[in-house]
Amino acid sequence: MKSSELRSFEDYQKAYELSVKEPEIFWEEQAMKLKWIKKWDKTLQWNFDEPHIKWFEGGKFNITENCLDRHLEKRGNKIALIWEPNDPKERFLRLTYKELYDKVCQMANVLKRNGISKGDVVCIYMPMIPELAISVLACARIGAIHSVVFAGFSASALAGRIQDAKAKLILTSDGLNRGAKQIPTKRIVDEALEHCPSVQKVIVVDRLGWAVDMIEGRDVYLHNELPMVDKHCPPEPMDAEDTLFILYTSGSTGKPKGVVHTIGGYAVFVDYTFRNVFQMDESDIYWCTADIGWVTGHSYIVYGPLLAGATTTMFEGIPTYPDPGRFWQVIDKYGITHFYTAPTAIRSLMAAGEDHVLSYSLDSLKVIGSVGEPINEEAWHWYNIHVGKEKCPIVDTWWQTETAGIMISSLAGVTPTKPTYAAYPLPGVQPVLLDGEGNELHGNNVEGYLCIKYPWPGILRTTYGDHDRCRQTYFSNYKGYYFTGDGAKRDENGLYRIIGRVDDVINVSGHRFGTAEIENAININKKVVESAVVGYPHDIKGQGIYAFVILWNENDENESPERVRSEINETITAEIGKIAKPDKIQIVRGLPKTRSGKIMRRILRKIAENDLSNLGDISTLLDPTVVEEIIEGRI
Ligand code: PRX
Repeated sequence: MKSSELRSFEDYQKAYELSVKEPEIFWEEQAMKLKWIKKWDKTLQWNFDEPHIKWFEGGKFNITENCLDRHLEKRGNKIALIWEPNDPKERFLRLTYKELYDKVCQMANVLKRNGISKGDVVCIYMPMIPELAISVLACARIGAIHSVVFAGFSASALAGRIQDAKAKLILTSDGLNRGAKQIPTKRIVDEALEHCPSVQKVIVVDRLGWAVDMIEGRDVYLHNELPMVDKHCPPEPMDAEDTLFILYTSGSTGKPKGVVHTIGGYAVFVDYTFRNVFQMDESDIYWCTADIGWVTGHSYIVYGPLLAGATTTMFEGIPTYPDPGRFWQVIDKYGITHFYTAPTAIRSLMAAGEDHVLSYSLDSLKVIGSVGEPINEEAWHWYNIHVGKEKCPIVDTWWQTETAGIMISSLAGVTPTKPTYAAYPLPGVQPVLLDGEGNELHGNNVEGYLCIKYPWPGILRTTYGDHDRCRQTYFSNYKGYYFTGDGAKRDENGLYRIIGRVDDVINVSGHRFGTAEIENAININKKVVESAVVGYPHDIKGQGIYAFVILWNENDENESPERVRSEINETITAEIGKIAKPDKIQIVRGLPKTRSGKIMRRILRKIAENDLSNLGDISTLLDPTVVEEIIEGRI
């Protein structure tokens, strides 16, 4: 029996119509499917000017009661979580709903024992081990706000996020496995904490059995804490508009900002979108390959599947370890029916050759999905033919950290799909395309800036500690609209195709970086005077990072360009993390600037793309000759 309510195109059309005509009635109906401790008084209050958005105000709710307690009677013995370790020879783990419930309650009590209560911020810096999902849920159980930081970020990036959120406690592990490598997570935390006075406690999961430094009075091992606490922990009754989590994401300016999501609206939106996009049967097994450090993992590894009472899978490793057949081996091992991954993973496995995928049956698959960046035609077809065997609908799901859940996507097997198109908006989502002046482009066969004109329950409420930044970033470009930062096209049938970012955000393997953020990191290197970073098309990553760098002493004979490049890479690894390392670093004498000193990124983007046909008028630049030199030296 499917848990979705939309089973036919007609169902979708009716729901969509109602959701536009009567959005409050539509979302009230969805919200009623969850368990409320007290029903809300006011369904929606909003304006996009401040912005001020409140859903289900007055309602009392706990998301873990909906993810766990609510299922115990019917699904207590159903598998809630499958965990596949990095090393295929290590034992996997399966937790039933009852077992997961017990573990979450215990972890919640460990948090309480270590001084955490409602409203405190807990930072989670952990690999993809079961304790990560359990920690997220434990925070939500007692009303603490979780801020998960992807464990690939450096100590400096972690410190910035801890300081911004004033986190009181960190949950981490001794180290982590990543393919053949191991990374010292606890040491990174220790380094970060030299600059984070707000942190009082560190709870360490013993993943690798390493002897790590433990600071007396600050650091405790989880396995020593668990026997000290009770198994029982009642869900804290939370206000619908209390904060559930903060998740940092990059924008076109400044430091990454903490996107804030609140409890009630987030739960309703993620529950509705998960059930209707994926269309799971009760016995199906779902696997999303994202990391819980990103929004996809929050919404569609932890909360969405558990709200729906589904079986969700967590994978500790990487797609190419021990070989590029790993994903397909795991699908056969557990009989995965619903598989959700990113185009960059598909492209890298495609490049590894068909043999790896052809040696597995993949018979269990029913639905396959894509998320994080535009999927190119070739990757779409490869995914369809070799993974889906042309019998599995592909859901290409467009959404963002800020939207909490899927906004535009086909509903598996229910609404039309088209290669490279995210297709139709979900009920309750009202996308529009605007021209450069902010006028709505009506009708079909149009292309413009993708905005949303009406709030949905999962919309971000603010950016942590800086509401004005939220207003400026998302609500000031086009008055009265939420601006996504993406460009999109609507085809002759009204299907949407996402073209990509139109701001200074680079999407590398589905991960967002601001050009300014990378430039700031590069400029920390003492040899660098100035830098400019742009994205360029990359076969595997979608976009690669191209950095143009001016040095203080370009003629120093002791400096080989290789050495300078590797030093710059080290600086970026220390400031942000390896994931932000440029693919290309070109040392230049000057940058193309206007007379007022503004860098002409458009020209640099063209050069990085190797498209020299249309550089535009360069005669008005401060020094037009630098363009020639950059072209000559391009990599
Ligand atoms: O440019 C869009 C791209 O990823 C951005 C959001 O990134 P993030 O907040 O990290 O969330 C990623 C996971 C939801 C968007 O602005 N993007 C995401 N999904 C798609 C996509 N671009 C095209 N097609 C998609 N399906």
